[in-house]
Amino acid sequence: MEKADLNWQALPFDYTKTDCHLEYYFINGQWDEGKVVEDDRLSLHISATCLHYGQECFEGIKAFEDPEGRVLIFREKDNASRMVRSAEKILMQPFPEEKFIEAIDKLVGLNRRFIPPHGSGASLYIRPVLLGISGIIGVKPSTDYMLLVFCTPVGPYFKGGLKPIKLLVEESIDRAAADGVGDVKVGGNYAAGLRASFRAKSQGYAETLYLDPKEKKYIDESGPANFFGITQDNRYITPDSDSILPSITNKSLMVLAKDQGFKVEHRPMHIEEIFTLKEAGCCGTAAVITPVKSITYKGKTVTYCEKEEAGPVCKSLYDNLTAIQAGLKEDSYGWTREIPMD
Ligand SMILES: Cc1ncc(COP(=O)(O)O)c(C=O)c1O
Repeated sequence: MEKADLNWQALPFDYTKTDCHLEYYFINGQWDEGKVVEDDRLSLHISATCLHYGQECFEGIKAFEDPEGRVLIFREKDNASRMVRSAEKILMQPFPEEKFIEAIDKLVGLNRRFIPPHGSGASLYIRPVLLGISGIIGVKPSTDYMLLVFCTPVGPYFKGGLKPIKLLVEESIDRAAADGVGDVKVGGNYAAGLRASFRAKSQGYAETLYLDPKEKKYIDESGPANFFGITQDNRYITPDSDSILPSITNKSLMVLAKDQGFKVEHRPMHIEEIFTLKEAGCCGTAAVITPVKSITYKGKTVTYCEKEEAGPVCKSLYDNLTAIQAGLKEDSYGWTREIPMD
């Protein structure tokens, strides 16, 4: 099939309309079989719980074309189960995991001309979104739900891909509450982080690095990604905290780092540890691995990359991960799956 007429190498991390999306409804206690929709606007009840009370959660998954033109998807089963956890945490009806996989396969098949060509550096980003849609005015869970899943071809989240970014440690704004919902992917967490992100960007930083909301002593994560550091004695340290999203990319990097000979430490990470690292990075589906150039905390800046170049550890983890995702290297971990195309 002929590809869509897009400038694949120059794609930003942004929305491009594709041919269709899918919509599934949970009404009268069961999920329907879903329908294919071309119009990329929704019609919702003005009192839907997703609009007023934030009953919304979502996921982000990437699919890649391999050198033979096959389409590979990365660890989507983990996204399916994370979305169930997100839904349950804010009392929404979860979307069944098998149906989630079927929906993705169908959607990608229908939009195959939007899958970026192998080697373009772009990928197909798949966004499932679950919404409470009952028209209710009291604060209580919806009875009816909608799962929509759309896809859009994207380039790197942080401009420049593997170009190192500057982070600012945020001390006065939390993205998530202690004992709140920071460990699930609900829209409200992102709204709560907008002010901090805006402030960091307006001061010339690419993103915020959040501290734990309880003690403000430990690193949580960056706006859209988990954080990791590499020590002089080759340890891969990444924060463990109840208020960060357990990243599927980070889970993969912990395995890759271990197999590359690093000692992996997944534990609370004191903010002062930033001054002892030799490299640092942000990781996530959208961010992939984005090396950190510097971190500024209480007016002091620690710099990891003197030039605009990733350090060797970030670079090798990036090369390893992206080679597996794009089918350039054998996937001995069982993380990728070929999406059947008919
Ligand atoms: C807040 C936050 N943390 C971490 C991540 C990275 O998670 P994953 O690697 O599963 O995409 C994301 C992106 O999904 C995110 O939005």
